[in-house]
Amino acid sequence: MTDSEFDPLRAILAELAPQGRPALLPALHAAQKIYGWLAEPVLAEVGRALHVPLADLYGVIDFYAMFQRQPAGRTMVRVCSAPVCALAGAEVVAQALCRHLQIEPSAVSSDGAFTVEHSPCLGLCDRAPALLVNEAAVGPADPADAAAICAMSGPQTVSFVGGDIRILTSNCGQGHPTSLARYQARGGYAGLKNTLTMTPQAVLAEVKAAGLVGRGGAAFPTGVKWEAAVNAPGQPKYIVCNADESEPGTFKDRILMEEDPQRIIEGMLIAAYAVGASRGYIYVRGEYPYAFKVMSEALAEAHQAGVIGKNIFGVGLGFDVEMRLGAGAYICGEETALLESIEGKRGLPRIKPPFPTTHGLFGKPTVINNVETFCNVALIVERSAAEYRKLGTERSPGPKLFCVSGHVQRPGLYEVPLGITLRHLLFNLAGGLKQGRRLQAVLVGGAASYALAIGSIFGATVVVALV
Ligand SMILES: Cc1cc2nc3c(=O)[nH]c(=O)nc-3n(C[C@H](O)[C@H](O)[C@H](O)COP(=O)(O)O)c2cc1C
Ligand code: FES
Repeated sequence: MTDSEFDPLRAILAELAPQGRPALLPALHAAQKIYGWLAEPVLAEVGRALHVPLADLYGVIDFYAMFQRQPAGRTMVRVCSAPVCALAGAEVVAQALCRHLQIEPSAVSSDGAFTVEHSPCLGLCDRAPALLVNEAAVGPADPADAAAICAMSGPQTVSFVGGDIRILTSNCGQGHPTSLARYQARGGYAGLKNTLTMTPQAVLAEVKAAGLVGRGGAAFPTGVKWEAAVNAPGQPKYIVCNADESEPGTFKDRILMEEDPQRIIEGMLIAAYAVGASRGYIYVRGEYPYAFKVMSEALAEAHQAGVIGKNIFGVGLGFDVEMRLGAGAYICGEETALLESIEGKRGLPRIKPPFPTTHGLFGKPTVINNVETFCNVALIVERSAAEYRKLGTERSPGPKLFCVSGHVQRPGLYEVPLGITLRHLLFNLAGGLKQGRRLQAVLVGGAASYALAIGSIFGATVVVALV
């Protein structure tokens, strides 16, 4: 490579360098975007700028499936090979694409234009078989459409959103993001405004009284987690949003991010106020490039309007949020692995205890919650804990989002009060089985539900398979 070819990378690295190693993932993404893959001279440049030894850097990029160590096609077609898409015929689609382009899977077409790869779940299970063509979601894909898909004109349908209630999803189902102005016009940021009239202790008490439990899988009481971070010594404190949603069959967080990003930011702001945190991170999985873009734009919009930043709503509260894009590693959904990843390392889980509430991001007290959990927070503070408890059951209050995919009439995202039956979800809401088919299996909680039976019910995936 000539020296001038490094210029665009050097300009980006100059901006990222003050952060040091925690800027490693953004730097690698930027480098891959410029050069298509990560050659050794490029890695050496990144390592020098961020003070990461080259051997260490190789360890990091080998951990993440989406960093390319070999030249790749300018257009990357990722065909989902996870259970829902596999049942819907994804392999036949992959073969049709490879045949059309005359390449093997993971190889580069002779003109350097295309690579076709198998991918883990893309969070488009309601549109199986699904693919990502560079950053564009395509599905359901038909093998006969191979040429159209390669010409970037494959089907790009919108996820169906329904349910018995539409509270968390009141702004979803349109297929486009809700702007800050529209979010506010529809009552958004009322929760934050209420928050700012209360003491942090009162906000915490309200979230505890609501009985909210985390929606990321472990169903841990949110208020109890926040209280531990409040009581932990050490500054600064961090709020982290877990948007790594990688469980096959799950796509609720993707839809919330893509269609109602301000609701998530509002929840994080309320958490920051209650916990006394000044900085936040939103970690979005690498397979969600569009959600990452929408969340980044929503943050910029919130910043410009003074909703986040140094002086929120002019009351002197300061909270800034930074985005992080993952790079293809299921395990980074586990909270401590996610923190390692933000720090620019391989996403290996830490031994617990200590828990993130005392020893979290950069060793500081950290609250990490799921996207849907933060959306519930805004609702609680807006309506009060007592109102919130009117939804759901005594031990599991509140609304819940279920992702239904597989062989049902209406795959999609359904919002219901906790406590409904699986039969109601599948047969009344999702329309029952496809014509002429017989039920073989219902997988509740995604593929990991087998190992994580109770927690995964809150991960809230339902996959239906038929004979
Ligand atoms: C293997 C594994 C994968 C996980 N993946 C996710 C995930 O993709 N998204 C998520 O929010 N939580 C995931 N979790 C749970 C997180 O570790 C953590 O409990 C959660 O982010 C806490 O947020 P909550 O209390 O709001 O649910 C995972 C846990 C394990 C053990
Ligand atoms: S997108 Fe294929 S299984 Fe989820």
